[in-house]
Amino acid sequence: MFAQPGDSFYEQVGGHETFVRLVHAFYEGVAQDETLRALYPEEDLGPAEVRLRMFLEQYFGGPTTYSEQRGHPRLRMRHVNYAVTPDQRDRWMRHMLAAMDTLDLPESHDAAMRDYFRRAADMLVNADDEGNRL
Ligand code: HEM
Repeated sequence: MFAQPGDSFYEQVGGHETFVRLVHAFYEGVAQDETLRALYPEEDLGPAEVRLRMFLEQYFGGPTTYSEQRGHPRLRMRHVNYAVTPDQRDRWMRHMLAAMDTLDLPESHDAAMRDYFRRAADMLVNADDEGNRL
């Protein structure tokens, strides 16, 4: 990783390759988590993996392919079809933090990404643990 001054956050953490690795490791965890996996409508997690990867690349200052293909992120709206309970959030976070562990990024970048995931996941909770919508 040869970061230069003025590089975007995306470039500083290793660009495309880093996001491919992160999201791939994340969905490996999701695939093995029956409770969380049940939320994902598609048989194949590959397309979901691509969408999350493009979104994160864009969010962290990389290519804007996500919005070119999917439009405005509006993440909360895009999750209304899924009952995101505190338990589902915690599972999502556990897999994402485990995926972050595989990257071994510099401390400040690592902390910034974990902090973002924590806030974003909290924001997307839309049901209680019984599945009643909030
Ligand atoms: C809190 C727990 C979460 C759960 C249970 C959850 C679940 C899901 C599910 C079931 C989908 C549909 C799969 C697909 O077709 O792509 C989805 C889509 C998506 N999620 Fe989440 N998600 C969570 C948190 C997050 C967070 C924190 C982010 C971003 C940091 C995120 C970003 C996305 C994106 C970008 C999509 C694709 C939207 C689209 O373009 O259609 N999700 N999520």
